[in-house]
Amino acid sequence: MVTDRGRDHTRKDIMRTAIVGTGSYVPPKVITNFDLEQMLDTSDEWIRRRVGIRERHVADDSTATSDLGVIAAQRALDAAGMGPEDVDLVLCSTVSPDMPFPSTACIISRELGIVSHVPALDLGAACAGFSYAVHVADGLIRAGSHRTVLAIASETLTRFVDWTDRATCVLFGDGAGAAVLQAGDGESGIVYTRIGAESMYADPNLLSIPAGGSRKPPTEDTVRNREHTIHMEGRKLFKIAVSTMPEIALMVLDDAGFRVEDIDVFILHQMNVRIMETFAERLGISIDKLLINVDRYGNTSSASTILAFDEGIRGGRVKKGDRVFFLTFGAGWAWGAAVVEV
Ligand code: ACO
Repeated sequence: MVTDRGRDHTRKDIMRTAIVGTGSYVPPKVITNFDLEQMLDTSDEWIRRRVGIRERHVADDSTATSDLGVIAAQRALDAAGMGPEDVDLVLCSTVSPDMPFPSTACIISRELGIVSHVPALDLGAACAGFSYAVHVADGLIRAGSHRTVLAIASETLTRFVDWTDRATCVLFGDGAGAAVLQAGDGESGIVYTRIGAESMYADPNLLSIPAGGSRKPPTEDTVRNREHTIHMEGRKLFKIAVSTMPEIALMVLDDAGFRVEDIDVFILHQMNVRIMETFAERLGISIDKLLINVDRYGNTSSASTILAFDEGIRGGRVKKGDRVFFLTFGAGWAWGAAVVEV
């Protein structure tokens, strides 16, 4: 029992948001580092050593973000034993929507048959988006405004990479994850969530897709200059990640009333194995405590942690009774954390 700062997380009389089903989906097409060697001046050895990625899944030309989200969401509903009629709010985190509007959440709702009076909205906090969705869902459920929330994260970032830029295109992959969240009895579920943003790093030169929005609408020049693809300063992002992630993890764990050793599984935004190794070192934990799948999927932005969690549950790595700590980071420097008891 953890009672730091006077909290008792074993209390059963506190209503908790339960995670009653999860699902995920990645498109079947795989691009390995060896495939990239045929397209670019890069090597499997360089990519594995610097980032820890071996392969990534890539959506084909006919597949959009909502298509991945629909399958992940359907799997989450199936796992929960629920149908579209049970859902009363749909949230979708994405930075790669099908189009500026309608929202990807509305498109997914229509495909799932969630058609009438059910609000559906996209949430954007870059790679931290799913943490934001869970934070919002948890708050609305505990406030009594909504009972069953379908929270989805779906991304096709490979549509927004410059496949001639070896410094960025090797990093990303496509995928989706979803969770059905519902008012629970306090036995398990979301114990704590917190979101934040270190907005001094909201510098478009650091990480952005510069064109396509109101600042720089599409023109022939923006297309020619590849300004609709991801631009980043990789080395600076690496430094920000390794310094802020452990710091924020320790701050929020303390705020939640947990010690590092109270956590069974850490699921971080899947961006780079070296960043995760540094994180483990700084927290004084074994790397085995981290659930890592970036080697097989690359960076799937906001889908990465829910994809890892769903795989962990289905594969037995995350077990009943485990206490899981989530930490996500994204452009803007938005971040989110959660503690979940399975
Ligand atoms: N293959 C081979 N060589 C490469 C590749 C590649 N794919 N990419 C870059 N290089 C070369 C560079 O051109 C450079 O060559 P040079 O020395 O001749 O100029 C050399 O490798 C070193 O480049 P750096 O950028 O200094 O390499 P670094 O060690 O910083 O690694 C990396 C680059 C992997 C991008 C690292 O900085 C990183 O992981 N940063 C984090 C970026 C990230 O994950 N962004 C995702 C979005 S952010 C988010 O999800 C929250």
